[in-house]
Amino acid sequence: MHQDIEKVLIDEEVIKKRLDVLAEKVMADFEGESMVVVALLKGAVLFMADLLRRVPLSMEIECLNVASYHGGTESSGVVSFLDHTLPDVAGRHVLILDDILDTGRTLDAVMEKLKQQGAAEVKTCVLLAKDIPREEVMAADYTGFVIGDEFVVGYGLDYRGRYRNLPYVGILKQSVIG
Ligand code: IMP
Ligand code: MG
Repeated sequence: MHQDIEKVLIDEEVIKKRLDVLAEKVMADFEGESMVVVALLKGAVLFMADLLRRVPLSMEIECLNVASYHGGTESSGVVSFLDHTLPDVAGRHVLILDDILDTGRTLDAVMEKLKQQGAAEVKTCVLLAKDIPREEVMAADYTGFVIGDEFVVGYGLDYRGRYRNLPYVGILKQSVIG
């Protein structure tokens, strides 16, 4: 797997240090609230596990299965909700976790859905955000790292379902993307 990587963009140690900082911010903002974390499958799984271990607050953890890329390297622009039921967030303070904010459509769609379900507050947290011009698109409330407009894998992020288990964020060799 490692041989398919052209370059490591953010290594494991750097990610872990940044998670300490994000966790402190989340702690400060959610302390004393009725908290529900909604992690977006499957990209946020590694991020969720490592971040939430650092947040010793009382919380519920839910996962939501959404898709926007459909296996390629470009966002399709359509966000599909793949679950039959949504988590019960009425009156709760929600923190949505995702791996990356690209066009922002995924976070936007999930945020709207959870607000419609009666959430008292919805905040968003991403490991990565792409540094691309965004006019109306929201920024996340908590961002781990801002990266360039390039396709990355690892630490939850996939290419055609693979590479999520890399402990770092990296760029694939062109020969792999083909
Ligand atoms: P958005 O709706 O365009 O913000 O896309 C967000 C989703 O697209 C993320 O949850 C990822 O699953 C996927 N995505 C966006 N950029 C990348 C990337 O560089 N590598 C892998 N997946 C990505
Ligand atoms: Mg994905």
